[in-house]
Amino acid sequence: MWRTSRKPTTLALMLGVGIIVVWAWRSAPALAQTGATSLAPEAEAGKQLYMDRCQHCHGENGDGKGVSAAVVSPKPRDFTSGIYKFRTHHETANGNKMAGDEDIFRSINDGLHATSMPAWGGFYNRQQIGQLVAYVKTFASVFQDDKPGAALDFSG
Ligand code: HEC
Repeated sequence: MWRTSRKPTTLALMLGVGIIVVWAWRSAPALAQTGATSLAPEAEAGKQLYMDRCQHCHGENGDGKGVSAAVVSPKPRDFTSGIYKFRTHHETANGNKMAGDEDIFRSINDGLHATSMPAWGGFYNRQQIGQLVAYVKTFASVFQDDKPGAALDFSG
């Protein structure tokens, strides 16, 4: 008889351990990131602006999963991939579709027509947009490991 009366306790214990394990697993990337932040001053300044105005779409960790992402189409860019849609540079020899700083600047400044990506040019000055460029690049390690490919030739 004592066995059956112990069962709920064991179950509760297992559930408790399960919750803790899931919690630890979910918080791990966030903790790891906090530990790893030693940003250059320009990127650090950009981080403040990003947290104010960009993270609700692009996500706190730059993964495109901000709270507003669910209601916009196309989806906000996931900066952790380092793959940019709007670029004037060829793919690199390593196959990376990287944007130049001027491309990222243009997308932020002018916005992306027919998407929910706003034009920030009237809201942030050039220096601040430069800081945002520096910060969004920190989400993808490719910007430390590789350089954007050759510039596209538009001369016809
Ligand atoms: C309301 C949602 C929203 C907000 C707020 C927002 N974005 Fe975006 N952003 C988007 C969407 C959606 C796209 C992708 C559009 C597409 O796929 O064509 C995008 C694309 C971009 C791109 C282009 C990436 C590429 O592939 O070339 C950059 C850079 C960018 N956002 C930076 C920012 C920055 C910096 C801020 C804050 C100052 C910001 N965004 C705020 C929705 C948002």
